[in-house]
Amino acid sequence: MLNLDGKVALITGASRGIGAAVAGALANDGVRLGLGSRSGDDLGIAGAVARPCDVRDSASLNALVGATVDRFGGLDILVINAGVGAYGPFLDLPDDQLEEMIDVNVKGAIYSVRAALPHLLRSEGADIVTIASEAGRRGLPFEVVYCASKFAQVGLTRALDHELREHGVRCTNICPGGVATEFAMGRGRTPGMPQLAGMMKPEDVAETVMFALTRPRTHRILEVAFRPVTETSWG
Ligand SMILES: NC(=O)c1ccc[n+]([C@@H]2O[C@H](COP(=O)([O-])OP(=O)(O)OC[C@H]3O[C@@H](n4cnc5c(N)ncnc54)[C@H](OP(=O)(O)O)[C@@H]3O)[C@@H](O)[C@H]2O)c1
Repeated sequence: MLNLDGKVALITGASRGIGAAVAGALANDGVRLGLGSRSGDDLGIAGAVARPCDVRDSASLNALVGATVDRFGGLDILVINAGVGAYGPFLDLPDDQLEEMIDVNVKGAIYSVRAALPHLLRSEGADIVTIASEAGRRGLPFEVVYCASKFAQVGLTRALDHELREHGVRCTNICPGGVATEFAMGRGRTPGMPQLAGMMKPEDVAETVMFALTRPRTHRILEVAFRPVTETSWG
């Protein structure tokens, strides 16, 4: 198992939910962190670089990457996590929600890689981990544009794997089913609803990210798909 102590990671969408759980797990293993979200929350993690960063704005991503590299002297891990979802019949999706999903999930992921990659290529062993979704592996009703955005993330990461493997950058898609976060609440659920009880916890996703990152550098995890036992297999 690889020891991550002293490595430097940058996480987008780190202020809550899965991003915050991944940040906590990495900090516990001694990883130094750059944390980005629109709120710029530092999660109370001592020594972390935290600043407001909207992934739709490549300049704010460049600034976060720059501040992280200036503080810690390099970058080894990028976790592409910032994401938004909106659900309902395809034709009912308002234009602004459609554009937000494409801008944050697709363009934001691409901008994140563009900002981080020059530094990752200087690392002795780098990783890009994309928090995609089961919706990036299967077409799901009432999530059509969200699915399209998550398929784009999965495609981005798979293609990067081909291009970057020989340069020492491993690329991994993490594809969870339902996770009980504010994001999941946004589907019209309220705290205490039985569906949430069966959902996974953000920490479950963080453990999977840690599994991928701590594999010896002799191999790489391309994709991890996992779902709550309460969730259908969709064929
Ligand atoms: N929850 C699930 O069921 C589930 C399942 C599979 C995959 N996922 C994926 O997991 C990722 C995290 O989701 P979550 O469930 O943890 O959601 P969440 O609790 O709503 O957290 C989303 C995070 O993204 C940040 N964010 C949103 N828009 C942003 C922007 N424009 N620029 C920068 N940061 C932004 C938010 O912070 P600010 O508001 O402070 O910007 C927050 O930190 C998403 O990519 C989602 O698609 C979630």
